[in-house]
Amino acid sequence: MVITTAMSARSMSTRLELLVVFVFIVAPALAATKPSYIVYLGGRHSHGDDGGVISLEEAHRTAAESHYDLLGSVLGDREKARDAIFYSYTKNINGFAARLEAEEAAAVAERPGVVSVFPDRGRRMHTTRSWQFLGLERPDGSVPPWSPWEAARYGQHIIIGNLDSGVWPESLSFNDRELGPIPNYWKGACRNEHDKTFKCNSKLIGARYFNNGYAKVIGVPLNDTHKTPRDGNGHGTLHVGHRRRFWLCAAPRRSASSAASARGGSPRARVAAYRVCYPPFNGSDACYDSDILAAFEAAIADGVHVISASVGADPNDYLEDAIAIGALHAVKAGITVVCSASNFGPDPGTVTNVAPWILTVAASTMDRAFPAHLVFNRNRVEGQSLSPTWLRGKTFYTMISAANAAVPGYPPADALLCELGALDGKKVMGKIVVCMRGGNPRVEKGEEVSRAGGAAMILVNDEASGNDVIADAHVLPAVHINHADGHALLAYINSTKGAKAFITRAKTVVGVKPAPVMAAFSSQGPNTVNPEILKPDVTAPGVSVIAAWSGAAGPTGLPYDQRRVAFNAQSGTSMSCPQVSGVAGLIKTLHPDWSPAAIKSAIMTTATELGNDMRPIMNSSMSPATPFSCGAGHVFPHRAMDPGLVYDLTVDDHLSFLCTIGYNATALALFNGAPFRCPDDPLDPLDFNYPSITAFDLAPAGPPATARRRVRNVGPPATYTAAVVREPEGVQVTVTPTTLTFESTGEVRTFWVKFAVRDPAPAANYAFGAIVWSDGNHQVRSPIVVKTQES
Ligand SMILES: *[C@@H]1O[C@H](CO)[C@@H](O)[C@H](O)[C@H]1NC(C)=O
Ligand SMILES: *[C@@H]1O[C@H](CO)[C@@H](O)[C@H](O)[C@H]1NC(C)=O
Ligand SMILES: *[C@@H]1O[C@H](CO)[C@@H](O)[C@H](O)[C@H]1NC(C)=O
Ligand SMILES: *[C@@H]1O[C@H](CO)[C@@H](O)[C@H](O)[C@H]1NC(C)=O
Ligand SMILES: *[C@@H]1O[C@H](CO)[C@@H](O)[C@H](O)[C@H]1NC(C)=O
Repeated sequence: MVITTAMSARSMSTRLELLVVFVFIVAPALAATKPSYIVYLGGRHSHGDDGGVISLEEAHRTAAESHYDLLGSVLGDREKARDAIFYSYTKNINGFAARLEAEEAAAVAERPGVVSVFPDRGRRMHTTRSWQFLGLERPDGSVPPWSPWEAARYGQHIIIGNLDSGVWPESLSFNDRELGPIPNYWKGACRNEHDKTFKCNSKLIGARYFNNGYAKVIGVPLNDTHKTPRDGNGHGTLHVGHRRRFWLCAAPRRSASSAASARGGSPRARVAAYRVCYPPFNGSDACYDSDILAAFEAAIADGVHVISASVGADPNDYLEDAIAIGALHAVKAGITVVCSASNFGPDPGTVTNVAPWILTVAASTMDRAFPAHLVFNRNRVEGQSLSPTWLRGKTFYTMISAANAAVPGYPPADALLCELGALDGKKVMGKIVVCMRGGNPRVEKGEEVSRAGGAAMILVNDEASGNDVIADAHVLPAVHINHADGHALLAYINSTKGAKAFITRAKTVVGVKPAPVMAAFSSQGPNTVNPEILKPDVTAPGVSVIAAWSGAAGPTGLPYDQRRVAFNAQSGTSMSCPQVSGVAGLIKTLHPDWSPAAIKSAIMTTATELGNDMRPIMNSSMSPATPFSCGAGHVFPHRAMDPGLVYDLTVDDHLSFLCTIGYNATALALFNGAPFRCPDDPLDPLDFNYPSITAFDLAPAGPPATARRRVRNVGPPATYTAAVVREPEGVQVTVTPTTLTFESTGEVRTFWVKFAVRDPAPAANYAFGAIVWSDGNHQVRSPIVVKTQES
């Protein structure tokens, strides 16, 4: 399970618009205290030795005692074990989290019954912090027509659990007027014992917080702001260090999409909040694996139908990754788990949350834009902006590159990023300042220009971010322009004494084509944990998504932002993820007996690869987006309700797949909480019944590789015909048989896809194609990814 951490780490530090470097430097210092580990013992036996004789509480207590016994036998003292353990997972997950020395952790790992022991990793939230805003007078209500939340108004009885930084319960998102009573199978709770103002209702039906892992890392006593499911991000009074706030998972993202739905109809999906992220403290991360695992365990036991998680770290071995483990247990309980792909794009291999049982979501634009123009040297270039203030008059302003405006001693390269404290007021006063994207948050650059007395900011893209321009709620007049225009602008400034420019006021434009376009920040494949599975799975709107805002924080979410608005627009895979959760919830309403894999298949095979101009979805450099950025395509909720055929997978299929990629059968049996044997005839990874097909490492000579697939008819009797709608370059793809006849609903048919290498060169570094099964009414599409062996 070698992963390319070097690549991920590099891409994060260059692409994440956060202070990654800062945290990397400080984090080791925190490790001076005893580190935390998660000891994973697998699944709980559902009806094991305790089979109905003892109560549930008794069973949990016994399980916790067994954890003290196990750790006590290593530490030589049961009391020490009791002190060290800060979580016992005893419901559907079996394991514990404890503070241990490295040697003690290694000794625990040797004990029988232990699946894995891994450090309690910190994680970041998946937002790009592009907190954009629309003023109160412009609550334009443009819910995207494909909004699943719109459709989800029919999704009554569905409960969606969100793992993030908590919620702001007063938000319009949680208006429960048109909702009936809370479903009686709901077993959750509203944990407000330290925050009596926090109230659940029949929309926000539950809220919990998990902070033990975070508490162990920060090492100072927690206060009431940590002991509540309330999102601190909205708290005007809560002062967390500037910048580090950007590590927060910022719940309004989620409440946001529910708000959008509230405006689109009367959504009936219920929401439960599981807070696992807190303000980073003294260089800590925001969210810890031990807390995330506890949240998964609670959500499964509470009875949610869909879990949505927008947190992530570098991809990791599945059995040492709390999200992968938690998600596997959730899927086993019939819960669909939807996660964000993360915002480390556009570099290859940056996609996270890649386990095959997770539905991994990328982000793309909607057909709405906020163009503003920059006029300089008789050029007029278009950019994007949501700044609420504009340059006065019509006279041009003197421009300066931030690299030439550094305070004495500040490195010009860093000053060009407009870091806080970088700019010299004497040099920028009254001027338009040009700042480069990257490093710190985009809106923070504007804050620095404003602080130093600049009149406006031009934010220019670096080469990596190319054409990806984002409308942000900057604190001063500003425009964001692409790399090519930015380069021309900087060259003009370099060569012209007293260069001048003007920025026009932004407009709102709808019906923009093409849309969707993949967001450059959206993380891309290949999957670095197991390249046999294409990730991400799908894309959904994640740029400038309009949402109600709590009103307790400024639209940028920054402590120095004193503005208050009712509506805001935000970007990130964390915005697209909850939309797909809503679609999953709606499918679950219509088809309560479908497995998480069937629901995922419905969403993937009905996704569209075309934009609103009927041409392939583009990436932000305006080349056709590959499945490595958009997966199976853009979600199409109405089609997903009626997919025609589904590719299903059982939990055993997933375990067999893990056997194939090298997991230990003993560990898998423990996970399963029941006897499990790896198949004697190992599963060919090509035959894993995933809705996309990846033929990895195809031999240039010899017999062609073949992928087997099984499809179940979930529509009326029909005859389907296969078409290879796009053949990967250099590899011939044949489907047999070419027709499948289903005499009734529920029938399963098998087919084979053969890959014959004609020319290994074009696919040496991946090539893409697609097959479609169609009965005239349904289009069941699977993207194909091929890679030929290096010779
Ligand atoms: C923050 O971390 C530094 C480095 O480990 C440590 O010296 C300092 O005491 C910590 N501050 C607090 C308030 O814990
Ligand atoms: C709560 O604790 C955090 C971190 O220790 C601190 O920064 C914050 O000011 C505290 N808030 C209150 C209201 O005490
Ligand atoms: C502008 O000048 C700076 C410093 O001389 C140089 O590093 C940069 O590459 C120039 N930029 C362009 C676009 O010519
Ligand atoms: C867009 O796709 C082209 C061709 O695949 C690729 O070279 C380019 O890097 C991609 N750009 C982004 C921002 O993903
Ligand atoms: C799997 O792990 C168990 C326990 O750690 C070990 O005894 C066994 O030899 C391993 N099996 C294989 C096939 O590696």
